[in-house]
Amino acid sequence: MKLQSSPLTRNLASVALTCAMALPTLAHAQMASSPTLYEQLGGKPAITMVVHDMLANVVADNRINHDFARTNIPHLQMELVSQICEATGGPCKYTGLNMQQAHKGMNLKTADFNALVEDLQKSMNSNSVPLGLQNQLLAILAPMEPDVVHK
Ligand code: HEM
Repeated sequence: MKLQSSPLTRNLASVALTCAMALPTLAHAQMASSPTLYEQLGGKPAITMVVHDMLANVVADNRINHDFARTNIPHLQMELVSQICEATGGPCKYTGLNMQQAHKGMNLKTADFNALVEDLQKSMNSNSVPLGLQNQLLAILAPMEPDVVHK
């Protein structure tokens, strides 16, 4: 059977052609929108691994582990993952205490802060997080220092 060229088939052909022309543009637009730090880190599973290993380092770190002696570590892990997920552009909503409230009365010093950052860096290294991504995460956490350490 021979297909007749009708206004309808001509219109469909024109729609198909327009779509075919638009596809490369859409693909390009998607590539152009850069992935969030959350996505680059590997999302929630990868962030959970990094936080888990960081807390293991903290618990073994004699410089600061006394501060965590009475802390519910699985709860702290959950809060930290949620905080980092949100801060890096992920789909989470951190509902824990703000940094001033969370560290009130602990009398933390810059040296304590730096020790925890080192434990995080150690964890990111052992989880093969690229240095550029490590620095982006540290740049998000660094401004929290004034709220964490005792003035
Ligand atoms: C950028 C640095 C830090 C971040 C992002 C951070 C984040 C957090 C978060 C999200 C919580 C949970 C708050 C909640 O339960 O609602 C928390 C609690 C806690 N943080 Fe930090 N923290 C930082 C630095 C430190 C340092 C340097 C220490 C001590 C050396 C520390 C010790 C603790 C302790 C002991 C708790 C748990 C308190 C409890 O048992 O309830 N944090 N922190």
